[in-house]
Amino acid sequence: MLHEPLSRDAGADAKHERYRTLRTSIDGLLDGEDDWIAAMATVSCELHHGFESYDWTGFYRAVSSDLLVIGPYQGGHGCLRIPFDKGVCGAAARTRETQLVPDVHAFPGHIACSSSTLSEIVVPVLRPDGSVLAVFDVDSDRPAAFDEVDQEHLEALAKTLGQRFG
Ligand code: SME
Repeated sequence: MLHEPLSRDAGADAKHERYRTLRTSIDGLLDGEDDWIAAMATVSCELHHGFESYDWTGFYRAVSSDLLVIGPYQGGHGCLRIPFDKGVCGAAARTRETQLVPDVHAFPGHIACSSSTLSEIVVPVLRPDGSVLAVFDVDSDRPAAFDEVDQEHLEALAKTLGQRFG
């Protein structure tokens, strides 16, 4: 079920509640599902439509030890390939750490798939052995749209996905 997008101006409690609702919805939608592409498509759709601040939402898959290739996403055209040494997504894959970027123009090497992107969060999706399965990328057309609440929930979701599909 798609929800009315949560307002960009919602407070932390409302954002926590929306993430909890969406994660429960995702759990239900993926119950019994073992296909990784179906999982990425479902996660991208549910989260993208859950928040006004989500302007581009999707996955980049690690197809080798140094290259990401686009996966299922929602929003305008995303660039197809990102080496680990490029962009915010490459930084997340390279460091295996979340990249919380309040101002993309201040991030050296940011790749602008859209000129409207002002802030971004990218979370690595790691296999049980710690290797990179994918990164989950969310762009916003608002500055500093993401914070520790987004990071907490997206990292928890990424951990579950990596353990289940990695
Ligand atoms: N901004 C990302 C590239 C992906 S597009 O935003 C969808 C980056 O700098 O890696």
